[in-house]
Amino acid sequence: MLIYYSDIGDLNSMCGIVGYTGFRPVVDILLDGLEQLEYRGYDSSGIAVKRESDIKVYKAIGKLVNLREEMKKHSGEFEKSTTGIGHIRWATHGAPTVLNAHPHTCNHGNLVLVHNGIIENYKELKAMLEKEGCIFKSQTDTEVVAHFIAKKYDEVKDLTKAVRLATKEIEGAYALCVMHNDYKNTIVATKRNAPLLVGFGEGEFLIASDVPAIIKYTKKAMYLSDNQIVTVTPDSIKLIDKDGVELPQKVELLPWEPVALSKMGYKHFMLKEIHEQPDVIRNNLVGKLHTASEPIVLNEVKLTKDHLKKLNRIQIIACGTSLHAAMVGKYLIETFCGIPVDVEASSEYIYRRTTTDSHTLVIGVSQSGETADTLTAIKQAKSKGSHILIITNRPDSSMAREADSLISVNAGIEVSVAATKSYIAQLMAFYLLSLYMAEIKESLDVSVIQSIKNELMLIPQKIEQILASTDEIQKCARKYSGTKDFIYIARGINLPTALEGALKLKEISYINATGYAAGELKHGPIAMLDDTLPVLSILMKGTVYEKLLSNSEEAKARNARMIALTNSLDPKLDDLFECIIRVPDVQEFLSPIIAVIPLQLIAYYIAEFLGKDVDQPRNLAKSVTVE
Ligand code: F6R
Repeated sequence: MLIYYSDIGDLNSMCGIVGYTGFRPVVDILLDGLEQLEYRGYDSSGIAVKRESDIKVYKAIGKLVNLREEMKKHSGEFEKSTTGIGHIRWATHGAPTVLNAHPHTCNHGNLVLVHNGIIENYKELKAMLEKEGCIFKSQTDTEVVAHFIAKKYDEVKDLTKAVRLATKEIEGAYALCVMHNDYKNTIVATKRNAPLLVGFGEGEFLIASDVPAIIKYTKKAMYLSDNQIVTVTPDSIKLIDKDGVELPQKVELLPWEPVALSKMGYKHFMLKEIHEQPDVIRNNLVGKLHTASEPIVLNEVKLTKDHLKKLNRIQIIACGTSLHAAMVGKYLIETFCGIPVDVEASSEYIYRRTTTDSHTLVIGVSQSGETADTLTAIKQAKSKGSHILIITNRPDSSMAREADSLISVNAGIEVSVAATKSYIAQLMAFYLLSLYMAEIKESLDVSVIQSIKNELMLIPQKIEQILASTDEIQKCARKYSGTKDFIYIARGINLPTALEGALKLKEISYINATGYAAGELKHGPIAMLDDTLPVLSILMKGTVYEKLLSNSEEAKARNARMIALTNSLDPKLDDLFECIIRVPDVQEFLSPIIAVIPLQLIAYYIAEFLGKDVDQPRNLAKSVTVE
């Protein structure tokens, strides 16, 4: 999860929002909803409830349990309240303090709101509001919006209109839920470049930044589009556009079941999710790969066969772990289909002139489907006429809604912030896609295709074998857990595996881990090597095995502490490596799926051994909705 910092005050970006108006006691619903979003990693929270004659705000720093405690202290105050809004905050600029936590209010406390996103022109608005006498209590950009909407409200005396007029002048990204004391049980909500949906119940409406917060209460929902404004009371809903024109409501049935976020006996969600990977692969093969001799079925790809054959370029854009899956995808597509593929971090893609056009297929890869950089990149490519294929674990996400073709990877909800099973699922999408295209283009020998397909079907069992005996991995993790730095080296199709292994380790253990193309070691990084530095070599049999072995010798000659992750039984490895993790044999093309599993486990066991917060590592959030 890469976090991008900017100089714009409080970003309040990856926050979670819940709103409710109906007939039930609102506080429990808001706390429940926030809890469903909390696994993504947050640092403070707050709730505002509408009471008979005022709006009351409660806040706490730290985990949600602190807000629960705070609410208990005031339990007599909101028994009759059935309308309210709640928020969990992920602070960037502006410390996680009670003052910075949402909801924020205007000066007289009549207007209250929660916000997810970034207000880019907040400094200008703040200067203008201060001149008019507004007093700011927090360092957030959000508070500016509260004052600004309140100012509009004072002018027009209509909450929906005030929100509409204010958001016309607000620049940036936002999802907002607003209440005003003049309205008994009304919430006005709007969004731009941040997700927000409205759940429809009987005599009640819920508003949230993500499905888990509302799914317990309703499966009927409407996703807001940018600049739409919705006004809900327990028995009415009105949707308008930015000019105030009423719009029809597109209610859909969410393809979700309420899930209990249970660790199923595992110590952490991450370990549980690592163990789910064999089934994730099986799920992804069902209906797509029947037998080795039958063609791959990938009805999700909406490009015509003719268009596919004529494709002369593919761009894949993604961030973090998804970027590593994309790198494996590049290797597969170029090797199997002979189509040039560029892979680029979305955050780089969006700030230069890209040469995308209608002859280019652009693939966006994202576990969450909400990553701001990737979403922006996708929209940019779409505007240039490219066919957009999205690979995501969230078929209901903002990115999915931009897709011309959508491959939903069916990994199930991933709770741990560090991506594991969603990565494996993304890899499966690339195996299926590259084989599917190779079959249409007839660009790969049929016998090679068949051997890959045959082995793909065996991969889940091989992973199960690794998961069944992790002693060596645990021993290795314990041995190196005291290190400050860690190097991973690989070549070819496993270079992304090295990068991913290093990313997993640094994310959850905070050890400075770096992945290198082994051939690059001698061009600089080798200078760092000494007898304190572990170097893990991903030594899978195939085209670059011998080369990587030589690179490992070079590192060993500098006294590095050598570790091998290998499917080779070659006895000479025993002299070279002080620790050897053996994995089941697998052909080179499929080795990234097998090789990443022990790396996920090494990261997990090191972090667990060091007593880190494995599922919610510091500074990270599960869905990065800020550029
Ligand atoms: C790492 C991790 C992140 C994400 C990245 C992109 O474990 O989860 O690096 O891969 O933030 O997120 P998505 O895939 O949701 O676009």
